[in-house]
Amino acid sequence: MQGIDELKKEIEAADCQSKDELEKFRLRFIGRKSVIGDLFARIKEIPPEQRKEFGQQVNELKNLAQNRFQAMKEKLESQDSGQEAPPFDLTLPSAVGVPGSLHPITITRNRIIEIFEKIGFNVSDGPEIEDDWHNFTALNFPPNHPAREMQDTFFIEKDPDIALRTHTSSVQIRVMENQQPPIRTLCPGRVFRNEAISARAHCIFHQVEGFYVNENVSFVDLKQTLFHFAKEMFGPDTKVRYRPSYFPFTEPSAEIDISCNICKGKGCNVCKYTGWVEIAGSGMIDPNVLTNCGIDAEKYTGFAFGMGIERIAMLKWEINDLRLFTENDIRFLEQFKPF
Ligand code: PHE
Repeated sequence: MQGIDELKKEIEAADCQSKDELEKFRLRFIGRKSVIGDLFARIKEIPPEQRKEFGQQVNELKNLAQNRFQAMKEKLESQDSGQEAPPFDLTLPSAVGVPGSLHPITITRNRIIEIFEKIGFNVSDGPEIEDDWHNFTALNFPPNHPAREMQDTFFIEKDPDIALRTHTSSVQIRVMENQQPPIRTLCPGRVFRNEAISARAHCIFHQVEGFYVNENVSFVDLKQTLFHFAKEMFGPDTKVRYRPSYFPFTEPSAEIDISCNICKGKGCNVCKYTGWVEIAGSGMIDPNVLTNCGIDAEKYTGFAFGMGIERIAMLKWEINDLRLFTENDIRFLEQFKPF
């Protein structure tokens, strides 16, 4: 009985100031595991003649605790709603989500792939970090070719040489090592060259390699394929010309020019007043390269080309500075729509 009196005083004196304190009060006085619950459990231990009175006392204590709890809870809740404003304004209109857009390089790459897929090309992939074999040696680069030197190539390791690929032609080797003709594939990707960054050059840019290996592939196939591409990409009036050139991995080799898309061949500063702009390197795959990859060079021939995606995008949209592609200025990027 004495204990009940003390608990009664404790309950009457309770004045919880926070939800934590209120929860402590609840655990102590309310429910089966509380001190009062404990007292209920002990009623049966009380001698029968005192049991009734004890039971009443405990019941009163329970009601007292519940009322006190309810009162403190209501007080805390009214304080809550009176004081704390929510940390945001529920009446503000919601922010309108701005949908992103594809990067112009992505749009251009997708369009290039789309054009070539329609004439039977698939897409292959290769690593950006390459060994000397795939980037140079298998492509018929002589041991002391200047393109291997530090000024062009970002080397990661020396002896054996590991470097960032300087062109997507490395993927030609990877594909031909693993597949026998007929092969007709595109290899888009990033390439890396140690060049000073300017409006016309960057140390990271994108190329699409394309090549076709089969029986009886000739230079005519190369010409027609790129002629088709140029018209699809730049319009039916586009003219194409092939200039003799040199690459270690193609023989004969040609650089491919199209009539300037910007001045329509009349002459402007993009085409340096020649009316022509270069879009790709190309040629018939050198038999040595086929042999290096385990392809029978007596039986098969092939053509290959490699074009810069930035270059195509610049011509398509009349963009005059390569650096814009990597500056991530939204005002620049949001202008481009797939074509
Ligand atoms: N790899 C060459 C370059 O980066 C382009 C090329 C590809 C030329 C395929 C011929 C054949 O300049």
